[in-house]
Amino acid sequence: MATEPVLTLEPRVKDSRGFWKQKRLERKPLVAVSAVEINQKESSSVVETVQDRQSETLAVQSPAQKPASQLDEEQYSSEEHIMRQNALIITPNRSYQLITDFPVSRKLAPGEVMIRNKAAGLNHIDWKSVEYNFCLPELPWVTGREMAGVVEHVGPGVTRLKKGDHVWTSTYYRDRRAGCFQDLVVVPEHTVFSIPINLDFHTAAILGVAGLTAAMTLWKWLRIPMHTDSQDQQQEPEREVMLVWGGSTATGQFAIQLAERAGIEVIAVCSEATTQLVTSLGATHVVAYTNKTDPQIIDEIVSLARGRLTKAIDLVGATTAKLVLQVITACSDTEIDFAPVAYMSSKEVVPPNARVHIVEMKQFVMDSSCGIYGERLNQLIEDGAIKIPTVSVLKGGLSAVEDGLRLVKEGNLAGRKLVVSLCH
Ligand SMILES: NC(=O)c1ccc[n+]([C@@H]2O[C@H](COP(=O)([O-])OP(=O)(O)OC[C@H]3O[C@@H](n4cnc5c(N)ncnc54)[C@H](OP(=O)(O)O)[C@@H]3O)[C@@H](O)[C@H]2O)c1
Repeated sequence: MATEPVLTLEPRVKDSRGFWKQKRLERKPLVAVSAVEINQKESSSVVETVQDRQSETLAVQSPAQKPASQLDEEQYSSEEHIMRQNALIITPNRSYQLITDFPVSRKLAPGEVMIRNKAAGLNHIDWKSVEYNFCLPELPWVTGREMAGVVEHVGPGVTRLKKGDHVWTSTYYRDRRAGCFQDLVVVPEHTVFSIPINLDFHTAAILGVAGLTAAMTLWKWLRIPMHTDSQDQQQEPEREVMLVWGGSTATGQFAIQLAERAGIEVIAVCSEATTQLVTSLGATHVVAYTNKTDPQIIDEIVSLARGRLTKAIDLVGATTAKLVLQVITACSDTEIDFAPVAYMSSKEVVPPNARVHIVEMKQFVMDSSCGIYGERLNQLIEDGAIKIPTVSVLKGGLSAVEDGLRLVKEGNLAGRKLVVSLCH
């Protein structure tokens, strides 16, 4: 699958503590952005972090501060098993540092797989966890939640995979060896999938977060059937309706297509700039939020739904999750399943007809039965049933991660997904 040309990175902007400065909102040049809107954006991104903390159920301890080179030697005391590799570590003062001799043990536990990294996807959780200090069990740590590469070797009992296989995975932050911003990544076998035949390393590297989150949100939490004959279902005159707020987000692009395949009519909310993209993915109705008031957007959604709204997801944040609850309130005649995938404040008043489902992607790693979601996603991609979001590849290896995450945070990517290439 083709990828976009390499992005040109702008110079870094850091504050005195070495953290990125919040860039002024330039992302919607056609719209006058008021100070209030900017504040809402900023505060919503802060509260998103709080939810991320809650949903990860992490007791944040004061980070242990050890020299990076000692770390895995302590865990796997025998020096003969230690390999040295490149890793982008988060240092004790929470800045990034590229280390060329970061240790990792060759020795794998039963059921583990070591993958040589060829491409790592960049996600909001990566910058948030560093900036707001969560999901970092100790320091130094290695972050990064999704990657694609080549199986380097497998632990005892692994039968489904072998050295040399081209694979992708989705990881959980609790194991430093599973951080994807390093050359060698160690994960459980059930989280590893062959790269679909029609994808390369770069495109496969975005399946682990956006693709899998959309798949599990719909199939596991919202109980939308995984196996459906969409052609039959689309004939039905009164189809169920699902609201996807944030239709152009990478996660939203997968969600729209999976819902449409299941015979569900999708109402997607996005900016005017991404309307064409969202329409091309099969959304039945696209509501552009640009230049509209919140009540106007809500009215438009409610009138398009015509009493058939049964599912909703929010992929933007606290402000839009609140608006989804208002839509649900206005559709009081139906019970509506709602997954606030980005963030919903625990102070929100949930209307009686809403059933809120908290999406916990750690389940994918902790519960091996969740492997079916990766398998099914792979199959749909191989069948050509799902279009992959456009991928922009950053060259420069792990040293490009920090600048790439700044672009993710700024949010001007208009539906593109950023991947760091480690293919030499
Ligand atoms: N719980 C989990 O495990 C989990 C997993 C994956 C993602 N997430 C969260 O889900 C969210 C989406 O992640 P992502 O990586 O898919 O996002 P992304 O691809 O980075 O999405 C960015 C897009 O959001 C759209 N957007 C911004 N404000 C909007 C608004 N008010 N209404 C509608 N769309 C808006 C923008 O497009 P427009 O030009 O169309 O506005 C922008 O291009 C993030 O908050 C992420 O942290 C959570």
